[in-house]
Amino acid sequence: MKNFNYKNPTKILFGEGEIANLSNEIPKNAKILMLYGGGSIKRNGIYKQVTEALQNYDIIEFGGIPTNPEYEVLMEAVTIIKEKRLDYILAVGGGSVIDGAKFIAAAVKYEGKEAWDLLAKREEIKAALPIATVLTLPATGSEMNPRFVISRRATKEKLSFASPLLFPEVSVLDPSVIQSLPTRQIANGIADSFMHTLEQYMTYPAGGFLQDRFAEGILQTLKEISTRVLQHPTDYEAAANFMWCCTLALNDLIAQGVPSDWGVHAIGHELTALHGIDHARTLAIIAPRYYEHCFEDKKEKLAQYAERVWGVADGTVTEKAKQGIVKTEEFFQSLGIATKLSDYTNDYERTAEAIAQRFTERNWLGLGEHKTVTPEDVMRIVKKSQ
Ligand code: NZQ
Ligand code: ZN
Repeated sequence: MKNFNYKNPTKILFGEGEIANLSNEIPKNAKILMLYGGGSIKRNGIYKQVTEALQNYDIIEFGGIPTNPEYEVLMEAVTIIKEKRLDYILAVGGGSVIDGAKFIAAAVKYEGKEAWDLLAKREEIKAALPIATVLTLPATGSEMNPRFVISRRATKEKLSFASPLLFPEVSVLDPSVIQSLPTRQIANGIADSFMHTLEQYMTYPAGGFLQDRFAEGILQTLKEISTRVLQHPTDYEAAANFMWCCTLALNDLIAQGVPSDWGVHAIGHELTALHGIDHARTLAIIAPRYYEHCFEDKKEKLAQYAERVWGVADGTVTEKAKQGIVKTEEFFQSLGIATKLSDYTNDYERTAEAIAQRFTERNWLGLGEHKTVTPEDVMRIVKKSQ
């Protein structure tokens, strides 16, 4: 196991009714910008619960953050915070709203010329506003991690950023919020958290026995509850396990001391940037072909995963590893998620070349745990995913 330093300062309030306790966590004199998305919170009662919990606070609302949060929209919120001298951000939403909050928290304090440079140049930040979140969609883990992903539609870019200053101070995880989620978003949440776990697991055996078991536990639990949450989103027990799996899949605990490979996400973000495909679905398109391409490097972990998560008992390491990929693709399909690029767009012809070119321009010349997946390999993987 490799050495590691790990600190996760986010406080979690978990369970039904916990939104009411927000006022115990946010400083009484905070001047809050409350962010939300397209309005689902007004229809499902979450808005009401939050505003009742915070009725004695000074709050300005900013709604309309789109899925794959848009830079131009977020910059409007930055202007409001500066004009009104607000000092606290409350994000009520899924990954898009929470990621938007983190970008705004950093951009308000950013002293450079254009806040997009944070992402384009990956500049280190020295300060950020404090953030609280009320999670409405289990998927990304953003509620307990320090990173965000922002899109800029004008240039068809989607880039990520992280800083220890961006962990939310507190996040409320009430599993009953999933009752109003469309099936598509529940399926996305299962697939995204499944892939977060795999990205931190599917490398090579690295002596992290406990980390492997953590990851396999999350994968097995997601598999176990997937039908229940999809068919019965009012099943609280299933919802609670789903939500906690999503948070633990990407609060960086399972990654400590072991290698990881975020290649599927790196390529997936480009499919969202170029074609607007839901984040989780881009992962389901790329992952099977990515694992086939990196088969030799990953086959021992693929076989272990096939054995422990899918119960594949027979065959050689190679045979089991191949079954691991097949089972993964079938799992995504069982969630109603198509696994080919052409299932989502007819305009895929130049996609592989465009992504390879972008990676070359950004100097992303070696993805993977061994940094050996070149832009040319990426082109092959995307072509096979068509
Ligand atoms: O906008 P509203 O009206 O709220 O509707 C949203 C949106 O349309 C809806 N929704 C959310 N909660 C709901 C609900 N509808 C009914 N009831 C509820 N309780 O769901 C739709 C999707 O929401 P969104 O926040 O976009 O989804 P998700 O949580 O999947 O977030 C996706 C974004 O997170 C990024 C992705 O790239 C993408 O931009 N990610 C962030 C990560 C991180 N910070 O660590 C890691 C991930 O890998 C991912 O990249
Ligand atoms: Zn993801």
